[in-house]
Amino acid sequence: MGESTQVDVIIKLGGSSITEKEQLETLKLESLRQAAALVHTCVRQGLVCVIVHGAGSFGHHHAKKFGINDGSSHLPPESQAQSRIGFCQTHLAVTKLSHLVSDCLVENGVPAVTVSPCSTWKTRNGAVETSCIQPISDLVLQGFVPVIHGDCVLDSCKGSAILSGDTIIKCLCSHYSVSRVVFLTDVDGVYNNPPECEGSTLLSCISVSPNRHLNVDIGTSKNECDVTGGIMLKLQSAIDIVLNSKGLTPVFVCKIGSESAKEACCDGKITSKSGTVLHLENS
Ligand code: ATP
Ligand code: IPE
Repeated sequence: MGESTQVDVIIKLGGSSITEKEQLETLKLESLRQAAALVHTCVRQGLVCVIVHGAGSFGHHHAKKFGINDGSSHLPPESQAQSRIGFCQTHLAVTKLSHLVSDCLVENGVPAVTVSPCSTWKTRNGAVETSCIQPISDLVLQGFVPVIHGDCVLDSCKGSAILSGDTIIKCLCSHYSVSRVVFLTDVDGVYNNPPECEGSTLLSCISVSPNRHLNVDIGTSKNECDVTGGIMLKLQSAIDIVLNSKGLTPVFVCKIGSESAKEACCDGKITSKSGTVLHLENS
């Protein structure tokens, strides 16, 4: 599958949308079922879909506890042994989630197959050094729906790192011709300020200029309200996708289970009141 090969929609199931982030290894089953039904609708319409999901409460706790993203090379031998166990526990937890995601998709009639990056992707100081796209391409060509997830990976500098689902999506977008990326989250879209803050309003459309400026100011949660969401990081990934594709790949942020999520995934445009689209200015 070369650069011109078409993927209609990459759907990211955010960790906050399919898991209870504060409760260890707890699934939001109803939300996952809604997402699986939506993917089934897309597949039935003949759309080529790739699913990427985060770790949520499956993975983050272990990753944090064992400092997987800080690496292990600098540690004394006995701590390195501990770190390896933490690496395995993180991988086990996130693959447990991926099993549940693929299980729910298959139950809904989607031919989903999990592809774990842990043993095939590598980073160098956190940046992707080796990606493994071929198995994903092969699955797509045979009519399957690949399910890829954020994972722990080997890092050629620091020993280990966390590869996020958002980074995987950026990589996929640079290999394939992707019509749209849809981030499914637990809120209605991107707000001008954290949604729980009084007076915050939903942004239906965000324009990105070639020098990465946005047409609106967006308040992040950490300073104003005590929320640990990484929405700014997600926005940076979205901006990269829009700019790297020269505006050919718009990015949607929608609530899981919403009408806007359905419109964004199936039609590539939103007519209902919720949801946000990021696109290149003047496009
Ligand atoms: P990931 O897969 O990277 O974990 P996610 O889909 O789980 O992504 P978060 O990174 O947790 O999503 O981001 C979503 C959260 O960001 C929401 O729960 C929301 O409360 C918070 N948030 C903070 N500021 C904003 C904002 N300006 N607009 C939208 N959401 C915001
Ligand atoms: C995180 O991936 C992977 C691990 C912690 C193992 P993501 O960054 O894509 O996960 P979420 O969506 O934030 O939970």
